Amino acid sequence: MLTATLIILLSIFSLASSSQSQSQSTTDVCIIGSGIAGSSVAHFLRKYSPTISQIRIFERHPVVGGRMATVTIAGETFEAGASILHPKNYHALNFTHMLNLKVKGPSASDSSFSLGIWDGQKFLFKTIDSDSKSQLVQYFISFANSIRMLFRYGISLIKMNNFVEVTVDNFLKYYESKESRPVFSSVEEMLKWADLYNLTTQTLEEELVGLKFSPLLIQELITVITRINYGQSVRISGLAGAVSLAGSGGDLWSVEGGNWQMAAGLIDRSNVTLHLQEEISLITDVGGFYELNSTNGNSYTCQITVVATPLDELTTQFIPEIYIPERKLQHTHATFVRGVLNPAYFGLNAVSDIPELVGTIESSELPFTCISVLKEHSANDFTYKLFSRQSLTDALLDQIFSIRNETLRINWGAYPHYHAPEVFAPFILDDMHLYYVNAFENAASTMETSAVSAENMARLILSRLAGQQPSGSYGLKSSTSDSNLQHPEL
Ligand SMILES: Cc1cc2nc3c(=O)[nH]c(=O)nc-3n(C[C@H](O)[C@H](O)[C@H](O)COP(=O)(O)OP(=O)(O)OC[C@H]3O[C@@H](n4cnc5c(N)ncnc54)[C@H](O)[C@@H]3O)c2cc1C
Ligand SMILES: *[C@@H]1O[C@H](CO)[C@@H](O)[C@H](O)[C@H]1NC(C)=O
Ligand SMILES: *[C@@H]1O[C@H](CO)[C@@H](O)[C@H](O)[C@H]1NC(C)=O
Ligand SMILES: *[C@@H]1O[C@H](CO)[C@@H](O)[C@H](O)[C@H]1NC(C)=O
Ligand SMILES: *[C@@H]1O[C@H](CO)[C@@H](O)[C@H](O)[C@H]1NC(C)=O
Ligand SMILES: *[C@@H]1O[C@H](CO)[C@@H](O)[C@H](O)[C@H]1NC(C)=O
Repeated sequence: MLTATLIILLSIFSLASSSQSQSQSTTDVCIIGSGIAGSSVAHFLRKYSPTISQIRIFERHPVVGGRMATVTIAGETFEAGASILHPKNYHALNFTHMLNLKVKGPSASDSSFSLGIWDGQKFLFKTIDSDSKSQLVQYFISFANSIRMLFRYGISLIKMNNFVEVTVDNFLKYYESKESRPVFSSVEEMLKWADLYNLTTQTLEEELVGLKFSPLLIQELITVITRINYGQSVRISGLAGAVSLAGSGGDLWSVEGGNWQMAAGLIDRSNVTLHLQEEISLITDVGGFYELNSTNGNSYTCQITVVATPLDELTTQFIPEIYIPERKLQHTHATFVRGVLNPAYFGLNAVSDIPELVGTIESSELPFTCISVLKEHSANDFTYKLFSRQSLTDALLDQIFSIRNETLRINWGAYPHYHAPEVFAPFILDDMHLYYVNAFENAASTMETSAVSAENMARLILSRLAGQQPSGSYGLKSSTSDSNLQHPEL
């Protein structure tokens, strides 16, 4: 997934990497994947249980973080994958505070960035831009832009905020205390409890047409947003759509220096044995426990195995075989360019006329989904990020850019290709202790949803362990008097 062009931040954890290549050892929990999902499972297992003895995390890459990664282009570092967090992403906020990381808010220029909606021939809509640093001027421009948007899209724009707010409020139920929040053993159950399930049974388009949104708003602005956040059209599920719209508002943030540090910090603090550059190729149920074989020739014995990566493109073999609904990953090609866009490509005269964010509508002719300015170094020197569904050739980039001093390409198996009605893989892949955190990605794929799924997963594991061992030393009380969705095994 990470190409050789991705400049790797060799984390200090390479030191902790397994040098002791024992061929057999007893282990309680083995986690496959060091992204936010795997690292959060480790964190919450430690938080909720003093009795889990050993936690191993396997990571096939030399660094932790998975789809949270940075690129360094022309000496500066930018998010290459997951970049933005919502102000109500409370697990991510708590991790950031707990780990003494710094929140990077939107800079003044980010909050009043200019947007253009490009159809391949012309801009259908453009906000007004200004280089003025005056707060008052910025305020009037953003006010004028709101009026322009209202003129084009009508009062549906306000309905859009309501739609997002209702969904976000429902999602907040997942932060309720453990006393009032059940342990969920399936994605469906988890979504139904928060009144989010219905949103996965219809497409975003169907949902918004039902709410009488203006067709122009759906085809233009909302399509621009779903294409940026999920690389897909408004035919994604209503839930993935609402989540992607929530990721287009104000007050978005990220972790200064890279979101991957959340995973690194959680792993560092959870007494995890981290095996970097060790890919698990085979998981065998050997009766009562699992044997994990890696491509390094090692073998590990685990009572509990947690898959914390999408299984869709994985070559990992399971014995006996497991069956999950077929799912395709949407690939997003991220291309980073240091240089200058060519205004003529957009039918414009000057670079300064090109919006800082060029979004696009659904059109088979469009070679990219968006282009954004990551940094303006000077009037004739920028760093840009482009997303596209296919790799961008040099020939094409030479048309889009008039100067291109450095180019980096990453092909991400980015997130699920969403459908409605959505089908979900199980959290529990067998009848025993083989778990799948990323089943929740079919609801919506974000850093926070991964953490929310991981927190529930830790509770699910502990409650099922407690159920197996009537002595119940885990002390997990999952009383759910106010819910009829109580986990059957509690
Ligand atoms: C371009 C892009 C932009 C995005 N933007 C945002 C955003 O702005 N905000 C947001 O919240 N989310 C965003 N996302 C989504 C977000 O990145 C994911 O939802 C989240 O990071 C998933 O984390 P994870 O831990 O579940 O999986 P991953 O981060 O993919 O972690 C899985 C890990 O498992 C490892 N692995 C896989 N197989 C094996 C094996 N057999 N053995 C050992 N290790 C293995 C992988 O190398 C990987 O490190 C974006 C994603 C992409 C690609
Ligand atoms: C960390 O876990 C190991 C088992 O893997 C255990 O022996 C050790 O005591 C733990 N260390 C701390 C500080 O809890
Ligand atoms: C975040 O941390 C605060 C303070 O420790 C705590 O009260 C709150 O419950 C935490 N939120 C989540 C979602 O864990
Ligand atoms: C979800 O849909 C079902 C069936 O149409 C309906 O009975 C239920 O009330 C809906 N739930 C919510 C929260 O809208
Ligand atoms: C997995 O590892 C064990 C222990 O080394 C070994 O006995 C077994 O043959 C391995 N399985 C495969 C398929 O290589
Ligand atoms: C880009 O490359 C050109 C040609 O090598 C050089 O003149 C120019 O200074 C470079 N610009 C930047 C911003 O590095």
